[in-house]
Amino acid sequence: MKWKHKDLLDLDVLQAEEIEHILHTAGPMKEILQRPIKKLPTLRGKSVVLLFYESSTRTRTSFETAAKILGADTTNFSVTQSSVNKGESLLDTARTLQAMNVDLVIVRHASSGAADFLAQELRAGVINGGDGQHAHPTQALLDLFTLKEKLGGFQGKKIVIVGDVLHSRVARSNVLGLKKLGAEVVLVGPPTLLPAEMNYLGVKISYDLDAELPGADAVMALRLQLERQQNGLFPSIREYAKLYGLNLERIRKTGKQTVVMHPGPMNRGIEIASDLAESPLSVIDEQVTNGVAVRMALIYLLIGGASSDVA
Ligand code: CP
Repeated sequence: MKWKHKDLLDLDVLQAEEIEHILHTAGPMKEILQRPIKKLPTLRGKSVVLLFYESSTRTRTSFETAAKILGADTTNFSVTQSSVNKGESLLDTARTLQAMNVDLVIVRHASSGAADFLAQELRAGVINGGDGQHAHPTQALLDLFTLKEKLGGFQGKKIVIVGDVLHSRVARSNVLGLKKLGAEVVLVGPPTLLPAEMNYLGVKISYDLDAELPGADAVMALRLQLERQQNGLFPSIREYAKLYGLNLERIRKTGKQTVVMHPGPMNRGIEIASDLAESPLSVIDEQVTNGVAVRMALIYLLIGGASSDVA
């Protein structure tokens, strides 16, 4: 398949076969990660800028690792040490980077729409590394890759996503991808964190986790955004953990060898207990590894060439 997109802003613009193509391309990339010498000349001479206005552990480091393995040059843009501190706008900052002839910008920003804005303004490709509450497409793609490895496919599979759906860009992008690939998706959370309008694309919404667990092939816990508690969106953390927290005993209600996921960073003992996060059902570490492979695939597709050239 010839890749035709300059940017990756969310999964809504991708056809199901394009998502499958990314996942297929990530397969050989993951094999490269197992090699003793993880370095290819494929993207030699290409430059990738990491423009992170919000903190990140997984997304930033996995993009940097992915670009370096493929042979690209990377520049880490630090907001605290840049002219952003002198009031420089997002657009002027991005145009300055573009004037250095960069090929690809990875952006994370607290404002929904920031990545789309840059993509319209820049000749360089733009990948959305998470924008506000809007989208986190590369997290969704690594989750899809992990689920495909574990479940073999998506048709008829029941995926439960539980937690703070309201504020979750991870949930929004995952719903788009999972539904395109044919999964059954159930969103679960307290009514104040699960807007009724999430009931689209055939997604079921529920406020009762225990009622939804039976038959679940995978359960994905979302980070509880503790900073929201002051807004009175849930009575107490203890109450939230009792009703919506995952643990080993509760997950047995699925009646299956359920795949347990979390995008990180985790609040242990709140949305997920350590006994479950450390159990054989948990694929949380594999999600991180797969994140490098999927991001290698994306960088390669956007600024490299045809997937048949890999490896
Ligand atoms: N899952 C995720 O986006 O993690 P970071 O915030 O550490 O990048």
